[in-house]
Amino acid sequence: MSPSLAAESSSRPGQASVSGLMAEIAGTGTDPARGGYTRPVFSTAERDLRTWFIDQAQRRALAVETDANGIIWAWWDVPGTAPGSARENAIVTGSHLDSVPGGGAFDGPLGIASALVAVDILRARGQVPRRPLAIAVFPEEEGSRFGVACLGSRLLTGAISPERALRLRDPDGNTLADVAAANGQDPERFGPDPGRLASIGQFVELHVEQGRGLIDLARPVAIGSSILGHGRWRLRITGQGNHAGTTLIQDRRDPMVAAAACVLAVRAVALRFRNARATVGRLVPVPGGTNVIASAVDLWFDVRHPEDAVTAAVVENIRQEARLAAAGEGCDMELTEESLSPTTHFDAGLRTALQDVLPEAPVLDTGAGHDAGVLAAHVPTAMLFVRNPTGVSHSPEEHVEDADAETGAAALADVLASLG
Ligand code: GLV
Ligand code: MN
Ligand code: MN
Repeated sequence: MSPSLAAESSSRPGQASVSGLMAEIAGTGTDPARGGYTRPVFSTAERDLRTWFIDQAQRRALAVETDANGIIWAWWDVPGTAPGSARENAIVTGSHLDSVPGGGAFDGPLGIASALVAVDILRARGQVPRRPLAIAVFPEEEGSRFGVACLGSRLLTGAISPERALRLRDPDGNTLADVAAANGQDPERFGPDPGRLASIGQFVELHVEQGRGLIDLARPVAIGSSILGHGRWRLRITGQGNHAGTTLIQDRRDPMVAAAACVLAVRAVALRFRNARATVGRLVPVPGGTNVIASAVDLWFDVRHPEDAVTAAVVENIRQEARLAAAGEGCDMELTEESLSPTTHFDAGLRTALQDVLPEAPVLDTGAGHDAGVLAAHVPTAMLFVRNPTGVSHSPEEHVEDADAETGAAALADVLASLG
C-alpha cells in the first residue's frame, strides 16, 4: 500500500465498525423455529444479505460485479487504472453470507464485515493499493441447500463440473440450474474461470474460530495453518412403506430401524480410528409421517480426518456396517459420495508473511471447511481466525466479542496493507 492520493479519500463514508455492520444484518434470516440464522443460498435472507453487501461496497466506491458462478467481487482498483482494464495479481479477501440451518451470526458474515472495515481502516490511514484489492462473497459455502460445500469456489476452480453442480437438487427438489436462473444467473455460464483464478495473487479469509484454540491461548486472533480433510456421504436405505397399525413388527422392512443402527455405527466406527470425526447431522424419512412406516430414509454423514486414506477407511467401515444393518431389516442401501476435500495446508510463505505482521498471533489448524481450502490448491492462501468465546459454532451460541471483532478487522487491514 502507498500513501493516499487526495482524490482517493474524498467523499467516502467514515470508518465503520464490525459490530455496527453485524448489527445491520442481525435481523436478516433469523429462524424462530430453530433459533439462530437460516440463510441458505439464494433464499430471501441470503439475497437480502447480498444486496446489503453490494450497497456497502458501492458506498465505499468499490466496483462490484457478480461473476458467472454467482460470486460477488467488490474491487478497490489501483488509482489511475483505466476502468475495465484487466486486474492482475490481485489481493483478495472475503468469505460467505450463507449459513447452516439454525447457525450462528458470525460464520461467514464476520469475514465479510471485517473486510469492509479493513478497507475503511486502510483508507483512514491514507493508504491506497498498489495492486487491485477485492472482497469476494462466495455462494453456498455451507452446502446447506444443494449439499456440496464451497460450491462457488469449487465451480470457479473446476473442483466440481458445472454439469454435476447444475443437477444438484435442494430439499424441495429444485435444481441449482433452475434456482440460479430464477436468481438472474445464467446456468450456461457456470464453470471454471481460469482467467479470474489466475488474476488472484493471494487470498486471505478471516473467519470466526469454530473451536476453542484461542480461548485456551487467551488470544483474540490466530493465523490458520491447515484445514482438516473432510467429506460428505449420502446413505439411502430403502424398505417397505406401510401402515403403523396394521403391520406386525416381524413383518416389517423398516428403513428407520436400519438407519438408527447406522447412526450408532457411524460413531462406533469413528471411535476405532484415532482423530477421526464422523457425524450424522441430517436424516430424512420418506414420506415422514407419525403413523407411517417409512419406505426410505436418507441419512447424510460427514467424516473428517487429517489423512485422506483414513477418511476412506472410515467410510468403508461405515459402508460395511450399513450393509449389515440394512440387510438385517430386509432393506437395500446405496451410498453416494457428495463431496470430498483433502487436508489442506496453507501456503507456508504467505503464513510466514502473516506471522511477520501479527507476531503475537498463534498459528492454529481448523476442523472446519472454508472456501480458502478450495482456493489454496490454486493460489497462495491464508486464514485469520477470531476468538469465539463459547467455542461453539454451527449453532446460535457461536459468538464474537465486539472488541475481538475490531481487533480481527485491524489485523486483516494490517495483513492486506503488508501484501499490497
Ligand atoms: C463448514 O463450516 C464445514 O466445516 O462443513
Ligand atoms: Mn460453517
Ligand atoms: Mn464459514
